[in-house]
Amino acid sequence: TNLVCCLLPRVHLVESIPAGLYESSPPPHQSIAQSWLRLLHKANSSVHIAAFYFTLRSSDMDSSDYEGKMVFKHLKKLESKGVRLQIAVNAPQTSTQDTADLAASGAEVREVNLKAVTGGIVHTKLWVVDQTHLYVGSANMDWRSLTQVKEVGLLVEDCSCLAQDASRIFDVYWSIGGTTNGSLPPYWPARLSALSNSQNPLQLKFNGVPAQVYLSSAPPQVSTRGRSDDLTTILSVIDDAQEFVYISVMDFIPLSEFTTPLRFWPALDSALRSAACTRGVQVRLMVSCWEHSSASMFIFLQSLVVLNRPPLSCDIEVKVFTVPSTAEQKKIPYARVNHAKYMVTDRVLYIGTSNWSETYFTQTAGVGLVVNQTGSDVRAGQQTLQSQAEELFLRDWTSQYSGPLTVDQQHVCSHRSL
Ligand SMILES: *[C@@H]1O[C@H](CO)[C@@H](O)[C@H](O)[C@H]1NC(C)=O
Ligand SMILES: *[C@@H]1O[C@H](CO)[C@@H](O)[C@H](O)[C@H]1NC(C)=O
Ligand SMILES: *[C@@H]1O[C@H](CO)[C@@H](O)[C@H](O)[C@H]1NC(C)=O
Ligand SMILES: *[C@@H]1O[C@H](CO)[C@@H](O)[C@H](O)[C@H]1NC(C)=O
Repeated sequence: TNLVCCLLPRVHLVESIPAGLYESSPPPHQSIAQSWLRLLHKANSSVHIAAFYFTLRSSDMDSSDYEGKMVFKHLKKLESKGVRLQIAVNAPQTSTQDTADLAASGAEVREVNLKAVTGGIVHTKLWVVDQTHLYVGSANMDWRSLTQVKEVGLLVEDCSCLAQDASRIFDVYWSIGGTTNGSLPPYWPARLSALSNSQNPLQLKFNGVPAQVYLSSAPPQVSTRGRSDDLTTILSVIDDAQEFVYISVMDFIPLSEFTTPLRFWPALDSALRSAACTRGVQVRLMVSCWEHSSASMFIFLQSLVVLNRPPLSCDIEVKVFTVPSTAEQKKIPYARVNHAKYMVTDRVLYIGTSNWSETYFTQTAGVGLVVNQTGSDVRAGQQTLQSQAEELFLRDWTSQYSGPLTVDQQHVCSHRSL
């Protein structure tokens, strides 16, 4: 029953590189701004966007928000092309300018109050176009996410079965957004059941190479029948690795983080320890340093790094990625950071939207996408998503922007607050 459901999907790893980074070596990947504009050009019937917030245009006149403005302009033009635009955005919004202006030009906007339902927020960043194309990744609908923040996503064109599956995740937010103050239905209707999961991945060909693909979602309260849980998915990808696990996340904190009292939350931390120390898998974890980094994160990470000392000498390393800024760039709030959230093992690529701490998996809404091309025949001129992501990770890992975290280091992240 699991036949190839879309014949020639085109798949691109896409990224945003903050202005000024990698200037001497232009990135090989399409930019996220280009990929969104491409999707908007293609759209001829519907665009569904699930987002944490919308600030595609800056309120500051001097800002380099050209890309964001372009995306906004094309979103605004959809209605005149006869394309239905539906937006499910986290409630309450701190800035309503973009969504109000889009609504004024025909967009249907629903604010999703997940706080009332699960205690979390909608942190998902997901696009579905014409029920045929999709984008998923770390970038927010924010002009800074296109030029001032480092982001990674996946663009899949011409794959209706995967796009329809993503659309069902959107529909969950849409349905919660349609209720007063947010609430969950007594049960999720069958039309929202998952079309792919870890047990029954879609059998696709990504750029010609056979691929098993599925979506995951968090938190479990908003997962419909058959949907793979995001945390379980991440753990299964770590457990599946045989040679290496490379992770790029903004935050990795084995705590509940937003609860009182604070709880220790060892799920991902233990999985990495056991991959490195029990199974001999090489573990490389890259986190971000900016002025909002939590100091406690580095304490926990140092406790991971200490494992590479005898007696076990586990193969586990942590690096801290810092996006340098000019004096002008320093003035841009909430920018100049590596915000990417993905993992690549020797077998699988996982693209996600969540920070790695407890509430992102138990209360906050996020999505993941797994691309598994293990054992697939790769012909001349073809490349797996896994190997593209591995190259991308290694470029950052070996770059001048990332430095090793050592056990005794005192001032790991000089901008750190807390
Ligand atoms: C939308 O475009 C696709 C090709 O890109 C075409 O097959 C389809 O018929 C178009 N649909 C409409 C409603 O125009
Ligand atoms: C929704 O929340 C507001 C503010 O908390 C409250 O005043 C109102 O009664 C709620 N409405 C319903 C239908 O629960
Ligand atoms: C990837 O695919 C292989 C081959 O089908 C399978 O054995 C493995 O469990 C899959 N890995 C993950 C993480 O889904
Ligand atoms: C998690 O992610 C959001 C946006 O992606 C970011 O603003 C926030 O600082 C991150 N960290 C924590 C601990 O929430």
